[in-house]
Amino acid sequence: MKAQGHAVREAGFADAISIFNLIKVYPDEVLPRPISGIVENIDRFLVCERDGEIAGAVSWQILPEMGRVKDPSVEIKSLCVAKAFHRQGIGSALVAAAIAHIERLRPAKIVVLTFTPAFFARFGFKECPKETLMHKLYMGCINCSKYDSPFTCPEVAMTLDVL
Ligand SMILES: CC(C)(COP(=O)(O)OP(=O)(O)OC[C@H]1O[C@@H](n2cnc3c(N)ncnc32)[C@H](O)[C@@H]1OP(=O)(O)O)[C@@H](O)C(=O)NCCC(=O)NCCS
Repeated sequence: MKAQGHAVREAGFADAISIFNLIKVYPDEVLPRPISGIVENIDRFLVCERDGEIAGAVSWQILPEMGRVKDPSVEIKSLCVAKAFHRQGIGSALVAAAIAHIERLRPAKIVVLTFTPAFFARFGFKECPKETLMHKLYMGCINCSKYDSPFTCPEVAMTLDVL
């Protein structure tokens, strides 16, 4: 799979430690993930390799909607690009490829919580009130170790409609 000139591929177990170490570089922007969680969800990771190393990774999580089985949302998460490779289009290639993967599932929307809303706005994501993402709040934010309330957390909630 090629997106904007960068080879993005599905991750394999051999990538798990590199992904783990990359996520750890950004404890303020990206929630740390245990290595077991990365391995269990490796089929929901894409990576971009440069010069034989993992230069970036992205993942997603399905957020079921109670009572609306056909309409889950999908959250893009764990997006990170190694600092040496910033501003070379790798983050964009990863997000474009993740959106293409997720769209095949035909979810109601794609969700992201981010400190870089301008980056996600380039893909059509629009800011939304966190109160509209109760599935995300209950599946993720409720266990947050960084902020005591999603309503005062500084991350910006955004959604992209795909239907
Ligand atoms: C956000 C991040 C993934 C972007 O990756 P990247 O490979 O540098 O992004 P790209 O090169 O594809 O950027 C394309 C455009 O997006 C915009 N952009 C990139 N990084 C941005 C940022 N941090 N804030 C706002 N806009 C940004 C710019 O317009 C850029 O174009 P330009 O370089 O011509 O100005 C990367 O900075 C990163 O890993 N940050 C730390 C972790 C993080 O914040 N992850 C997001 C969690 S939701």
